[in-house]
Amino acid sequence: MSLRDLYPVPDIDEHWTVPQGFDAVFDWRFDEGRDRLMHLYQKGKDMQWDAVNRIDWSQELDPENPMELPPEGNALYGTPLWERMSAKDRSELLRHSQAWNISQFLQGEQAALICAAKIVQQVPDLDSKFYASTQVMDEARHVEAYKKLLEKFGVAYPMTQPLGELVDQALRDSRWDMTYLAMQVVIEGLALAAFGTIRDLSQNPLARQVNAYVMEDEARHVTFGRLTLRDYYPELTQAERDEREEFLVEACYHMRDRFDGIEVYQALGLPMEECVNYAKESEVMQLYRSLLFQRIVPTVKDIGLWGERVRNAYEDMGVMHFAELDPDALNENDEQVARDIDARTAYVNAVAGQGAAAE
Ligand SMILES: [Fe+2]
Ligand SMILES: [Fe+2]
Repeated sequence: MSLRDLYPVPDIDEHWTVPQGFDAVFDWRFDEGRDRLMHLYQKGKDMQWDAVNRIDWSQELDPENPMELPPEGNALYGTPLWERMSAKDRSELLRHSQAWNISQFLQGEQAALICAAKIVQQVPDLDSKFYASTQVMDEARHVEAYKKLLEKFGVAYPMTQPLGELVDQALRDSRWDMTYLAMQVVIEGLALAAFGTIRDLSQNPLARQVNAYVMEDEARHVTFGRLTLRDYYPELTQAERDEREEFLVEACYHMRDRFDGIEVYQALGLPMEECVNYAKESEVMQLYRSLLFQRIVPTVKDIGLWGERVRNAYEDMGVMHFAELDPDALNENDEQVARDIDARTAYVNAVAGQGAAAE
């Protein structure tokens, strides 16, 4: 199935081309590599999985609330507009909103695939090239898994403009660390937090599984960005670091304020301005928008882009308290949750197998 056939918006181009201007760099040193990066690379190899075998794709979504998420999490829940909607219209809103979300994950995964491939070529150190090559494979698998999940919604959305603008910057910039900063720190940091809300709140086993397994890998990707940039940024001049901080602050506000799902309101013929205002005012959405920074803030602190400009922005956004979180502990938890789901699935299958044998 072609996902483009499921877009409820006017047809878009088949390809998107971002011009590139950077040097592909060989590393003739072939040295041992940094311990933590080589350890992460080994982990990347050991933890490969197959979306076809690890997930039972015969599991279905709920027709009325596909990922069985609390409807209170929808931006329009409880508004006068929501109250006027029929049960059928509400289900349609939930289906489209959730599909929009998963679509942005899918589109972001393809962007991550391409950014990781750029890093393989461009980063000067072989240990980073090794690790990034495992990320390329991970991202292909994520595209595969989200595409399979999205097909079950019967509706899909193209990449939104705000995400496209940030991806464009990540790719077009000729400095390799800017790709890391935009992708591994900002986009993957946001994604990790967004996947986490579905993994933890969804009652649908398929949706939970896909997000938990992707997160298990994403935690490594964010760590990869953190380890590499933590080594690199102290080597830069203050002026160069300032430039990165400026980019970072803009990217964070950009994603917080412009990633608002208006395409769903358009597709469903809902009053756009009214919906956007509801979404802005919604307490649940405000909480969600701040939660999205849970993974970015501790990473940014750790890589040393922690000047006044960045700290002021995070204070202003109300996300400064996330700076106290331990990124390694968060990652360990992501891996543990994925293992728990595997164990539960194996147990359920074993019980089902015994039942079938007894019949
Ligand atoms: Fe990914
Ligand atoms: Fe990733």
